[in-house]
Amino acid sequence: MMTKFGSVFIQLASVDSTNNYAANLIQQGSCQDGSVIMADYQTMGRGQRGNSWQSVSATNLMFSIAFQPKYPLEEQIRLAWYSAIIWQQCLLRFGMSTQIKWPNDIYVKGSKIGGILIEQQLKGSQLDWSVLGCGINVNESPELKHATSIYRETGQRFKPLTVLAEYLDLLNGQQALLYGDFLKLKGLFEEGLGFRNQQLQFEKKDGLAFEGSILGVNEQGQLLLDVNGSVQSYGNQEIRFLLPST
Ligand code: BTN
Repeated sequence: MMTKFGSVFIQLASVDSTNNYAANLIQQGSCQDGSVIMADYQTMGRGQRGNSWQSVSATNLMFSIAFQPKYPLEEQIRLAWYSAIIWQQCLLRFGMSTQIKWPNDIYVKGSKIGGILIEQQLKGSQLDWSVLGCGINVNESPELKHATSIYRETGQRFKPLTVLAEYLDLLNGQQALLYGDFLKLKGLFEEGLGFRNQQLQFEKKDGLAFEGSILGVNEQGQLLLDVNGSVQSYGNQEIRFLLPST
């Protein structure tokens, strides 16, 4: 039942995307559950919503984990919630208190320190593999508004591998949470969810802007918003929200 995260460890100097590398291993039928692929540099790093993920060689942490979920497809959101909660615990070990920006970006005081890209592979109507890709700014933050790094927040430099070792330790140690009570996991994710209790600007796919405040998430992982007193739910592809300027 248990997965050993880090059972296989592959370290690459350069790759297009560690998520692609993991997907190829799975495709070849030669992938072990819990395999970690880490790269110093990605030539085609990918983020959510078709964004790219930039890298500076060997400065920040970029890796993917190939994982065989042992829960049904209806509960596929478990990994997104779990991986974000574990990032919060991990960064706390490095002295930072974080918030999750829905769906699963990791923020420190209004600035993004890392992101998660999960890609699922199905066999028939069952989840077969999940690829959990993480990018964490360890020593450098990209020249973007609202970006930060562990170094920027703490003044300390760490090897990306040191951060990964802590993350894997937590992923392995908290598996009871991953497979345990669904609502408990959801509750923990909601506790970590930032930007609540404030009016925020949202934008729908068609560009339509509206205001609402974050209430939490539903069991599919959609964002629940209070929009003029009525509760509305939105999926990841349907809206984005504009950060308050801090
Ligand atoms: C996001 O914030 O949009 C998600 C970023 C995920 C980036 C990581 S880096 C390692 C893995 N390989 C990729 O191509 N993307 C993820």
